Amino acid sequence: MVDPSGRTAVDLRVSLTDRCNLRCGYCMPPEGLEWMPSGDLLTDDEVVRLVRLAVERLGVREVRYTGGEPLLRRGLERVVAATTALRTADGAPVEASLTTNALGLERRAAGLAAAGLRRVNVSLDTLRPERFAQITRRDRHADVLAGAAAAAAAGIGPVKVNAVLLPGVNDDEAPELLAWCLASGYELRVIEQMPLDAQGAWTREGLVTADDVLASLRAAYDLEADDPAARGGSPAQTWWVRARGADPSTAPLGRVGVIASVTRQFCGACDRTRLTADGQVRSCLFSTSETDLRGLLRAGADDDEVADVWRAAMWGKAPAHGIGEAEPLTTSGFARASRPMSAIGG
Ligand code: 5AD
Ligand code: SF4
Repeated sequence: MVDPSGRTAVDLRVSLTDRCNLRCGYCMPPEGLEWMPSGDLLTDDEVVRLVRLAVERLGVREVRYTGGEPLLRRGLERVVAATTALRTADGAPVEASLTTNALGLERRAAGLAAAGLRRVNVSLDTLRPERFAQITRRDRHADVLAGAAAAAAAGIGPVKVNAVLLPGVNDDEAPELLAWCLASGYELRVIEQMPLDAQGAWTREGLVTADDVLASLRAAYDLEADDPAARGGSPAQTWWVRARGADPSTAPLGRVGVIASVTRQFCGACDRTRLTADGQVRSCLFSTSETDLRGLLRAGADDDEVADVWRAAMWGKAPAHGIGEAEPLTTSGFARASRPMSAIGG
C-alpha cells in the first residue's frame, strides 16, 4: 500500500477495543468515555479476516495489537495465534506484537507467547506507586510490574517500556526509569505527549520534549546515538547507554529510545496503517477522516473489494500531521484527530 508521498505501509496497528481499565489523565477523563457499542466492534473472526487480507494482499509484515487495552479482549490469544500463522505473499512470517498497560498480563503472558507473540510494549510512566495512582487514577502499579516480568519470563521480548513524562508529575523520573529498565533487561521508550487526549487539554507549554528527556538522562549516563540507518520506519530515535564517564569502547549497558512525535516529526518515514476496533481504516493517527471496512465485510464484500478500498484509503494519507510545525510550536495548522488515542490505538 503506497501513498502519493512515496511511503509504503507494512506495519498494521489494530485497536481491539476502546475500553481501558486505567484512566491516565493524558488519555481519558476519570469517568471514562462513552464506549463503542459492542455490535459495532469487529468480531475476532472479522479482525482475523482483515489482518489476513492485509498480510496476504496488501504487503503488511508486522501487526501490533493495541487498544484502549487489548488484554480486555478475551479472544486476544486466538487472534494472535491466527496472525502468527499467516505468511506474506513471499512466504515470510508475520511479526505480532502488543501495546498494553500489562494489567492481567501476568496470567496471560505464557498463553500469548505460545500463540507466537514476539514483542510487547508495556505502558509505565513511573516507578512510584503513589505517582502511578495519581497518573492512572488506579492503584495497580504492582500488577504492571508483575505483568512486564511475566512477559520477559515467557520469552516475549525484549520488553519495551513506554513512558510519557508529565510536567510537575514525573518529569524528574527519566534517569530512574532508565536505571530500572537497564537492570531489568527492558528497553525504555520515552514518548512526547501528543494532543490526543479525549478532553482536548493538551498544550504545547505542558510538553516535556525529547531534548528535555535527553538532557536529564545525560546528567546520569553517556548516550551514543544509534545508527540512524537501523531506525527504518520506527518513530523512536535510539541511543546506546553507558555509565557517565565510561570508556566508549566498552559494551553499553543497553539502549534507550525517545519518540519525539511533536518536536521532530517522523511522518516522512511512516510505514503504518491503522484499523480501529469498529473496523475503520485510518491512514494516520491524526487523520480527520476514516474509511469503513466493517460495513463492507458485513455487506458481503469479497477480499478483492475490501483490499481495493483499503489501498485507496492509504492513497489518501496526508504527508505529515503538522503539529509542531510553526515556531514557536502551536497546534495551529493542525486539525485535531477525529478520535482520542484510546479509540485509535497507539
Ligand atoms: N501522547 C503520547 N503517548 C500517549 N499514550 C497515550 N496517550 C498518549 C498521548 N496523548 C501512550 C500510552 C501508551 C501508548 C499506547 O501510548 O502511554 O504507552
Ligand atoms: Fe488506558 Fe493506555 Fe489510555 Fe492509560 S493511556 S487510560 S493505559 S488506554
